[in-house]
Amino acid sequence: MSGKLIHVVVLAAGEGKRMQSKRAKVLQPVGGRSMLWHGLASVVELKPDAIHVVVGHDAESVQREVERFGQHHPELTLNCVQQTERLGTGHAVQQAMPNVPDDATVLVMPGDMPLIRASSLQSLQAHFASSQAVLSVLSFFAQDPTGYGRILRDAQGQVTGIREQVDASAEELAVDEVNSGVLMVEAGQLNDCLGQLSNDNQQQEYYLTDCIGLTVEGGLAVTAEVCQDSNELLGANDPLQLATIEAHWQHRCVIALMEQGARLAMPQSLQIRGRVQVGRDVWIDRDVIFEGEVVLHDDVSIGAGSILRDCVLAAGTRIEPYCVLESTRTHGACQIGPFARLRPGTEIGPDCKVGNFVEVKNAVFEAGAKASHLSYIGDASIGAAANIGAGTITCNYDGVAKHRTEIGEQAFIGSNSSLVAPVRIGHRATIGAGSVVTKEAPDDALTLTRASQTSISDWHQRKRTDKK
Ligand code: UD1
Ligand code: CA
Repeated sequence: MSGKLIHVVVLAAGEGKRMQSKRAKVLQPVGGRSMLWHGLASVVELKPDAIHVVVGHDAESVQREVERFGQHHPELTLNCVQQTERLGTGHAVQQAMPNVPDDATVLVMPGDMPLIRASSLQSLQAHFASSQAVLSVLSFFAQDPTGYGRILRDAQGQVTGIREQVDASAEELAVDEVNSGVLMVEAGQLNDCLGQLSNDNQQQEYYLTDCIGLTVEGGLAVTAEVCQDSNELLGANDPLQLATIEAHWQHRCVIALMEQGARLAMPQSLQIRGRVQVGRDVWIDRDVIFEGEVVLHDDVSIGAGSILRDCVLAAGTRIEPYCVLESTRTHGACQIGPFARLRPGTEIGPDCKVGNFVEVKNAVFEAGAKASHLSYIGDASIGAAANIGAGTITCNYDGVAKHRTEIGEQAFIGSNSSLVAPVRIGHRATIGAGSVVTKEAPDDALTLTRASQTSISDWHQRKRTDKK
């Protein structure tokens, strides 16, 4: 392809009133990332020389998002330009042009087009490079063209202009080939046209789309490349359209997951808000949510209704239904849940079991350790093959600071014990049920702190005397 510089202008200054949100429209999330992020992620694959994001409404937040994206792509030249008044798409592009060299090729893209694929941008780029045109728009055929700018063509099929909905005649309104909002144009030509724009139209805006007619009038060629999958070009103006885009995105994600070999009980019930990698023979039951970065190795199974954020699960890990796992790693086949909550810093070894109504935070379970029912294990290390009885609590917080509990190998913690941290339970130590342990429990010994059981034999239950 040509060695010309590629500069991208992303339009992200709009407010998106119909979204009824404090947030800038382009920051609304799809699949756990902002719409702007998705668009930028596709653009990056063109290896552009620079990306200019036009910001206006909620500019600071949009700028922060752009910076976050930039941190993931240190190779990019990425900058924001302010559009202080929203005077139209032409005016918006104009704000970026001082930063664009005259001999560059410019790709203009709306910031709220998260489903656009890099391959579609690349095919527009290839089309543009191989045609005589100085400007090419990405168009599509709309079932309902309402709201879109119509592509106008002459008798020979050559593009002659774009007419916005509100300015169109009845005949023009009948056209179903519409402007996606994405276009490629030579920078010099774009500058020429932008300089000639007027806002003499229904919306009193400076329309970028008027550049098409101006270019043709100047005797230069404009083409339209038709995008086959119009879903890619969906924008979101309101919560309903955002949900539609989300559904398309989720569909793409589950297809990608099944292509990796995952078996899904009900693909349309899975929600992916981030990225998921799976090994072979992974099974995912219905109504599961994945967030952030999730890695599931071979033979992992995820029970219904579970939520996993930023987790790496070793081969053979079984998550029973209705578990919530955050920043958790497993290190071998193990069983979690049902109804377990694993909070950040949880590490579960092979052959471990974390059962129902167990909460774990910042704790390591060595191989074969078990906490089968109703426990809180926080800031702790649990030795290999230790058994934590039902109702055991690590009292890790003294009201000011957090303290650690260390439990040795093969220790046996009787039910309903409170381990008051900092405290160490020795290897093979046994703690009697119902103990409150405040000092070290030595290796190999039985430690109990409860009152010993007594029975009083000549005991009379109190009876009410006023009863008839
Ligand atoms: C625009 C196109 C229309 C196309 C449609 C596709 C124009 C005049 N019309 O119409 O042909 O079919 O997109 O969705 O270009 N923006 C700014 N600053 C502004 C105005 C807009 O940054 O002053 C941004 C918006 O945030 C948005 C994008 O530009 O991301 C498009 O603007 P919008 O007003 O939504 O254009 P449409 O009326 O949809
Ligand atoms: Ca508009």
